[in-house]
Amino acid sequence: MSRIPVHVAFIMDGNGRWAQVRGLPRHEGHRRGAAVVKKILRVAEKNGIKYVTLFALSSENFLRRSEFEVNFLMNLCEKFLKKYSKTLCEKEVRFRAIGNLSRLPINLQLAIEKLTRSTAHFDRFHLTIALNYGARNEVIRAIGNLLQNKNVDVENLTWKGFEQYLYTKDLPDPDLIIRTSGEQRLSNFLLLQSAYAELYFTKTHWPDFNEKEFLLAIEDYGTRERRMGKTNDKAND
Ligand code: FPP
Repeated sequence: MSRIPVHVAFIMDGNGRWAQVRGLPRHEGHRRGAAVVKKILRVAEKNGIKYVTLFALSSENFLRRSEFEVNFLMNLCEKFLKKYSKTLCEKEVRFRAIGNLSRLPINLQLAIEKLTRSTAHFDRFHLTIALNYGARNEVIRAIGNLLQNKNVDVENLTWKGFEQYLYTKDLPDPDLIIRTSGEQRLSNFLLLQSAYAELYFTKTHWPDFNEKEFLLAIEDYGTRERRMGKTNDKAND
């Protein structure tokens, strides 16, 4: 394969619709979706992608979905982290969670803290899960924290300086954002970090997303000319 993205972020959409067309409850779609996560991480790793970020729950989902569905998703994440914590450590995967984590159930917060701490020294592969995450909230929080820092020279603030206040401060910007299930929008996900990201949309619902589809997305990324403000002859340098 030609050019491989360093950081791929996923908007894992369509779990509910996948379940509904099969006459199943929505949460069955989430359960199937979690199983896909495992497969996708393996494909990413195998193909030399170093960072994967997953939009597992937006701050809007957190507020607007039924309590049952939100609890189900939180439980699913907790189980996922507990089930795979050993494997993630063995594979030297650095785990992070981004978003307003203080609102999550305490058991999930503890599982996140534990895994974040025990994988903090790894650098081979990076898995980040966005939970109760919203880009606008992230920016407001960043500005609040920045203004509290009396040493900041606001007049001469650069992007490099500002991004230190984002949840993603230790992560490179995503090169490729993949959204499943047909919607063609970012839905408040990594809005600033995706300034130069390539976007890939597929109609496939997340529970049906698979290795073949992922490879198609990577292949398509390889054909994109990433100018990032440069002229054609300097693109992809
Ligand atoms: C969007 O589908 C998906 C979500 C809100 C949840 C995504 C969560 C998972 C795939 C599982 C948990 C994740 C991990 C990391 C273990 P939707 O419910 O909005 O689908 P719809 O648009 O068809 O209703």
